[in-house]
Amino acid sequence: MRILILGGDGYLGWPQSLYLSGKGHNVTIFDNFMRRHFDLERGFHSLLPIYTAHERIAAWKEVSGRQIQLCIGDTMDYEALATVFRTFQPEAVVHFAEQRSAPYSMIDRKHAVFTQTNNVIGTLNVLYAMKEFAPDCHLVKLGTMGEYGTPNIDIEEGFIEIHHKGRSDVLPFPKQPSSFYHLSKTHDSHNIMFCCKIWGLRATDLNQGVVYGVETDETMQDARLATRFDYDQIYGTALNRFCVQAAVAYPLTVYGKGQQ
Ligand SMILES: NC(=O)c1ccc[n+]([C@@H]2O[C@H](COP(=O)([O-])OP(=O)(O)OC[C@H]3O[C@@H](n4cnc5c(N)ncnc54)[C@H](O)[C@@H]3O)[C@@H](O)[C@H]2O)c1
Repeated sequence: MRILILGGDGYLGWPQSLYLSGKGHNVTIFDNFMRRHFDLERGFHSLLPIYTAHERIAAWKEVSGRQIQLCIGDTMDYEALATVFRTFQPEAVVHFAEQRSAPYSMIDRKHAVFTQTNNVIGTLNVLYAMKEFAPDCHLVKLGTMGEYGTPNIDIEEGFIEIHHKGRSDVLPFPKQPSSFYHLSKTHDSHNIMFCCKIWGLRATDLNQGVVYGVETDETMQDARLATRFDYDQIYGTALNRFCVQAAVAYPLTVYGKGQQ
């Protein structure tokens, strides 16, 4: 299958690209290297050294014999996105290409506007590119568990049956995002659902929890295949940070109620 991985140079996108390529799929990565740029902007770095995208792709070819194509481009640049859809004709798109840090989105107005523009307009462009060039392809979009917030009832998978004043309906489960980043994901979800409804597109909107760890069967095959490991206060996800803090005997920085 021809699979386009948007954001395939990132923490999750790179191991996913290797996994799918290893399974025999024809994989193209589309990424603008923004995540590497954020490191320069904030003065952070991955705890595990990561190689350049070109070095990683060459190492994968050496180890597996398989070729991953690389397109350097921005989802906000519709022409670049249209070109890759037109030429590669993906049968599936896995969309990781967003600014994914809630703390980053809350720094100030500029970072909030950037996060929402990058994520919402980028995803809208993806939806239009699908409609225009690959209407039969399936979109797998990374959302987040944080779209739901923390209601005091069990969270249903996407939809909930509501009885109200004698009538009932199955409606989207209420979302209570808690940052401009989480709001961008909720806006994406609405746009995706709407486009599936009006254009008949097919999509899976994953509202997944925080990912931890750093190794997959594929990345362990060569040090040059490592994915990034963030442990700073902006990009470090909770369990990754706890692991680093425990390793250096530093007290764990538990946030909020600490009960999640
Ligand atoms: N890491 C987690 O625990 C977690 C949990 C839930 C959901 N997610 C979601 O999964 C996705 C990937 O997360 P990650 O941890 O791999 O993040 P990441 O920042 O490591 O990777 C995102 C990749 O997308 C690229 N990118 C961003 N904006 C782009 C644009 N406009 N055009 C092209 N490329 C762009 C970045 O350069 C980066 O390589 C995100 O959408 C995130 O919200 C992540």
